[in-house]
Amino acid sequence: MGEVSERGTGTPESDELRTMYARINEKHLFPFWAQRSDVEHDEIRQLMAGARAQPFHWSYARDLEALMLQSARLIHTGSSDRRSLILVNPGLRPRRATVTTLYTAYRINDPNEMMPPHKHTASAIRLGLTGQENFTGVEGENIVFGHGDMVLTPVETWHNHGCVGNEPALNLSVLDYPLVEVLNALEFGHDYQEDGIRKREQTARFTPDYSRKIYGTGGATARFVSHARGVGASSPMYVYRYDMMREVLERNRDAESLAGLVVEYTDPIRGGPVFKTMTFFLQMLRPGEKTAPLNQNASLLISPLEGRAICRVDDQHMFDAEFRDTIAVPGNHWMTLENPSSTTPAVLFIASDEPALAAFGLLRRAARTPAGDVVKLG
Ligand SMILES: [Fe+2]
Repeated sequence: MGEVSERGTGTPESDELRTMYARINEKHLFPFWAQRSDVEHDEIRQLMAGARAQPFHWSYARDLEALMLQSARLIHTGSSDRRSLILVNPGLRPRRATVTTLYTAYRINDPNEMMPPHKHTASAIRLGLTGQENFTGVEGENIVFGHGDMVLTPVETWHNHGCVGNEPALNLSVLDYPLVEVLNALEFGHDYQEDGIRKREQTARFTPDYSRKIYGTGGATARFVSHARGVGASSPMYVYRYDMMREVLERNRDAESLAGLVVEYTDPIRGGPVFKTMTFFLQMLRPGEKTAPLNQNASLLISPLEGRAICRVDDQHMFDAEFRDTIAVPGNHWMTLENPSSTTPAVLFIASDEPALAAFGLLRRAARTPAGDVVKLG
């Protein structure tokens, strides 16, 4: 309910205002007008007041590791099809969201553990952190993956996760779940069947390493297979190996760019981001490199794969992140990234909701030059 203007305090008019605001509230209405004369556009201030994602850092060693190991000990596949810890932004709780539109979740697979197939309308990626034998089956493509490999499980594709080795494997996933939830389009599917028979694993229908075999590193389109996979809204290449992306950075490590040394994971058939809702980048911070301050309304989730990164947000937050950590940088903040090492590069995996903003003509990005000018970025 609104605050009463100072002018009306103690007058019959103020009593009537108070009563009116109480009734407006009771009737589930919002008064979209200025209620204070000392605040410019007070009606906009009130309209925009609400939950906001905060810049935040989850350290794997400090915040997650003990609970990941404990959950692996206590929660088994017999009692739950899933065992992930979702990063909940303190500014957004109780929503399950790490930034407004996306969430990151961590999962540790026991050796030779396999979860049953499921599907959902949220799209997801899974990023291998430790262990070389993480497993994800996507629509009949069986993918075994390790450190830095990114696996797609696009909207409505059947997939099952697990580990096919004798060592535990740790991975993280990024989902557009909070965005799909806001659009009232969340659906889940379980009870996977083939030919009317319920199955706990998908039968392989593609050759091992199909994605690399057919799509390579992009730029060559195989005409002898169909590229229609899933509902057709996502990249048909379901795994992006770390060495492929890392090599592009390595080859260009002398390049200069105000926005940093960044490569984007793209759809090899249609170009552009791998999903319509979110996109992913790999960024190298060369030894001692500090990026220009960037400000954009897209939100970022930053996870170092090599080295460490110091992330400063609005001169109010300084996060020191290492391998297995995640930093949430909500949109509309100034951010710089710095590699504190003078000898080794840092490599960061970054998820962004940029495509969702771009689809509606809302995306805005800017950088501050060394001279102090603010320039728009494309
Ligand atoms: Fe899933």
